[in-house]
Amino acid sequence: LFPERSTDIGRLLSSYLEKESDVEDHSVHLLFSANRWEQVPLMKEKLNQGVTLVVDRYAFSGVAFTSAKENFSLEWCKQPDVGLPKPDLVLFLHLKLADAAMRGEFGRERYENGAVQERVLQRFHQLMKDTTLNWKMVDASKSIEEVHEEIRALSEDTICTAVQRPLGELWK
Ligand code: TMP
Ligand code: MG
Repeated sequence: LFPERSTDIGRLLSSYLEKESDVEDHSVHLLFSANRWEQVPLMKEKLNQGVTLVVDRYAFSGVAFTSAKENFSLEWCKQPDVGLPKPDLVLFLHLKLADAAMRGEFGRERYENGAVQERVLQRFHQLMKDTTLNWKMVDASKSIEEVHEEIRALSEDTICTAVQRPLGELWK
């Protein structure tokens, strides 16, 4: 789960998201990336043991959220995360903004407002055009059971094919 809020960097990020502190935009982008890189040794250890990793948010959130800010290009935002372990499957759980806003606690943290979320969504759509990644869209407005079943089916297929392939490097 990213950001991993329990590390030193993670605590900075958590306080930033909770609006308890402000951090310069470039700087916070690099901290979000550093927060992923500090987990890479552990992630690789697990993967080498044959463990399947389910990652809630990753470099794609990093790029989508920062590039939604003014004067941040998609290319600049991707650079710090180039070379991270490459996911075998990327699931985009799509939910209409109005529905998301009705879910618990929406609006409490930084970025949780309509204008930002719409710009972030556009950026996600740009990222999804990248055919070197296995993007799949899941309709998150369905019931928990239906969403679960769809994700289970997609994941099982991916796990079967991934065991025979070496770990890739993201955006490289
Ligand atoms: P969450 O804990 O509810 O998933 O929220 C994390 C927030 O942090 C969410 O608004 C997206 C944002 N975020 C970034 O801006 N950059 C990142 O690299 C990551 C992982 C999350
Ligand atoms: Mg949240």
